[in-house]
Amino acid sequence: MQSKELLDDGKRQMRLCNACRYCEGYCAVWQSIEWRRDFTDNDMTYLANLCHDCRDCYHACPFTTPHEFGINPPKLFAQLREDTYRKYASPRIFAKVLGEKRSGFWITFFFGIILMVALILGTNGTSGLLEAKVGTGAFYKSMSEAVMIIAFLALGIWMVGGWLTGMSRFWKDIKSAKSEKIIGKDIVKGTKYALSLRYLGGEGAGCNYPTDEPSTIRRKFHHLVSYGFMLDLASTALGAFYAHILHIPAPYPVYHPVVLLGILGGIGIIIGTIGLLVLKAKSDPEISDEKAAKSGTSFIVALLVVAVTGMILLLARETAAMGILLAIHLGSVAALFFTAPYTKFAHFVYRYLALIRYAQEERIAHQPVEVKVGKQPVKTGTTVAGKH
Ligand code: HEM
Ligand code: SF4
Ligand code: SF4
Repeated sequence: MQSKELLDDGKRQMRLCNACRYCEGYCAVWQSIEWRRDFTDNDMTYLANLCHDCRDCYHACPFTTPHEFGINPPKLFAQLREDTYRKYASPRIFAKVLGEKRSGFWITFFFGIILMVALILGTNGTSGLLEAKVGTGAFYKSMSEAVMIIAFLALGIWMVGGWLTGMSRFWKDIKSAKSEKIIGKDIVKGTKYALSLRYLGGEGAGCNYPTDEPSTIRRKFHHLVSYGFMLDLASTALGAFYAHILHIPAPYPVYHPVVLLGILGGIGIIIGTIGLLVLKAKSDPEISDEKAAKSGTSFIVALLVVAVTGMILLLARETAAMGILLAIHLGSVAALFFTAPYTKFAHFVYRYLALIRYAQEERIAHQPVEVKVGKQPVKTGTTVAGKH
């Protein structure tokens, strides 16, 4: 379906859901549609990024296909989320080539390895690539420290800059039409919702993914992946602190905090990504969008490749294969960073902003309304209706 048709069909579904309201209380989406009488394109984008694809509503709904209403919120929202990842990314041509094509990561990975091999050969010659190195600063005997720092600083700026651009465009579209301010409380609440993946847990009972049996397994695998990734980031930051502030260069022994954090994070990502792939294979294609499922798989595989190549490098870092393994691992990290603003990786920035916006809507909806009785202001019930 084209974007316009999809948005129109989405609005139709949400109007029907707002009349039915059976799913009230399932997730933030159902609360949020109650605060609206009708839906704009931007509302649909916002709701799509609020939906956690738990599939509870689909399994509860009597109006799914073959019913003529053809209600299918998880599929609708998965399709709209895919549009989000393209619409808000810049430049658009990169979003088309790197985000839409499943081969985007593999092609970038290939060029990433070539670039890393060239940087190793350029800084330390063939010995940097083919000879075993041990002792302090062994990695830098492969690729010069300055070159490594400059290359990954540039890639990091590219990735974060891309996300920030997408975030500011997305926020312009989903922010309060009445320009109400976001306050600290909204950010804290939205952060709590994001870090706990509250809406991927069916309020503790579990959600209907991958089958209609309630389960919290997807949330657990997601936690392994996302917290694993954060541990790996912490390991890299700590490594930079040891190398550049304390002047103790890598490699570090296995019991060193830098390595321990890296191992824990890597294991989390490997178990979590394999788990997510298994669940995806079991999930009902009727509720999934094929394009969204493929882009999710590409992202999962990209994370898996980075974690596996990192672990292999750790195991073989004292052998003659170290130079080549370093080029492969750094090539995979470079590919992940370079494609990050255009792939499913960007989901976390849009989801995070949608949850903050939801926390704001929730606060405004539940705050007491002040009316004047004579000259006295009196606090009454809450503003539960109306668009904010
Ligand atoms: C604000 C923080 C985050 C939130 C709220 C969030 C939320 C979600 C949700 C609801 C899903 C399932 C629905 C969907 O596929 O879109 C998902 C999928 C996924 N997320 Fe996250 N996420 C966050 C951060 C991260 C991070 C930091 C990573 C890893 C670096 C990550 C990795 C994944 C992966 C691998 C999937 C599976 C994709 C698939 O099954 O197609 N997420 N995320
Ligand atoms: S998904 Fe189905 S059951 Fe749920 S509110 Fe919409 S129409 Fe009603
Ligand atoms: S699939 Fe789950 S998260 Fe998405 S709208 Fe339905 S109940 Fe909410």
